Amino acid sequence: MRTRDRLVIWIAIGLVLLSVVWALRDLRVSSPAPTQPTILALTPEMMSLVTGDEPLVEILTRPGCPVCHIIPGIPGATGQVGPPLVLGTTGPQRLNDPGYRGQAKTVHEYIVESVLEPQRFVVRGYPEKAMPTWYGSKLSALALEKIASYLERQTEGSSAP
Ligand code: HEC
Repeated sequence: MRTRDRLVIWIAIGLVLLSVVWALRDLRVSSPAPTQPTILALTPEMMSLVTGDEPLVEILTRPGCPVCHIIPGIPGATGQVGPPLVLGTTGPQRLNDPGYRGQAKTVHEYIVESVLEPQRFVVRGYPEKAMPTWYGSKLSALALEKIASYLERQTEGSSAP
């Protein structure tokens, strides 16, 4: 093949690639933003205060915990974004983790801390910034108490409250 022929072929290939890139670029610009699961768009403004007087299922469901967590005894709580909330089993492991730098001395305190300041200790293998950081302004102290009391009693393999 002569050099000029080869040059022509390469230019043709180049043009095809360019048009493909261009087409993809247009595609990206024109396609609507991907619809995300509602929970990822959950903002504090969308949620009213959970006072703690609600039934426990509601206390855990209204803030969207089931979307990201498996919670024994809570219908539909099958989320896999975060660890299963079986703190009766996992709580002591977290407190004994050499990487734990929080203030909690008990599993109960650890749960409250995890909800108020999720970034303080990130469970290995899970995303760092997934859990909302504003629950402190939307869950009353009573609601948090009830959440912690419930979760600290859940153990791996348990299915009832
Ligand atoms: C958008 C997803 C998401 C939502 C909603 C969410 N979490 Fe989480 N949660 C995570 C992730 C991811 C982790 C693990 C990373 C970390 O430790 O910050 C986590 C960690 C935790 C932990 C520590 C668990 C452990 O095994 O040490 C607790 C406790 C917890 N969440 C409770 C809750 C409660 C209660 C709610 C609802 C009020 C909630 N989470 C809502 C994603 C979420």
